[in-house]
Amino acid sequence: MSHLIAPSLLAADFGNLQRDIEMVNSSEADWFHLDIMDGVFVPNISYGMPVVKTIAEHAKKPLDVHLMIVDPDRYISTFADLGADVLTVHFEACTHLHRTLQAIRNAGMKAGVAINPHTPVESLRDVLGDLDLVLVMSVNPGFGGQLFIEQTYLRLERLQGMKTAGQFDFIIEVDGGVGVHNAGKLISTGANALVAGSSVFSNPHPVDEIARLKSS
Ligand code: DX5
Ligand code: ZN
Repeated sequence: MSHLIAPSLLAADFGNLQRDIEMVNSSEADWFHLDIMDGVFVPNISYGMPVVKTIAEHAKKPLDVHLMIVDPDRYISTFADLGADVLTVHFEACTHLHRTLQAIRNAGMKAGVAINPHTPVESLRDVLGDLDLVLVMSVNPGFGGQLFIEQTYLRLERLQGMKTAGQFDFIIEVDGGVGVHNAGKLISTGANALVAGSSVFSNPHPVDEIARLKSS
């Protein structure tokens, strides 16, 4: 299977949100990446349920929801009802991660875990059979448009090694500072899904940029 491209709507023009959603619908993108920030787990607030509902009404591709919030268990059923297909929680925000992953799957969604740049990928070793996606943050979460952290490649290699050794089939997704300049290397290092915000939406020809990411 070819790698997946998930444009992050955090970088969209919210005054023309429907237009930007239609752009993604018409492109080679695979998923919509939705960043939910609470101003507590990360030092920024993004958007909430009414905006997710609007996105879900117009999006014709799966919704990949990245929760950067404390105690995400409170909202699992809410995001299931809103139409999330993948629900990703942060390792650093979950006291009972195994229970949270079960709850996400029981709600009918794919279960993802995101790890901050300082969290060893080995922290996930004992739940790798209980998740569908690992989101490797390649910037510190909270803002779009940040510089890619080069250490990410070594982290991907180690995670890919654990995936191969355990014969797991979870998706490895990378988020932050991703563009055509590093997409090829990320794919060859083990990434199966690339999130791209500013590199897509700041490009005057975003459909072409998505195509370039897809063929990287
Ligand atoms: C950052 C978010 C990212 C962000 C990526 O906390 O998780 O999804 O939108 O933006 P870029 O691609 O601009 O780094
Ligand atoms: Zn994200």
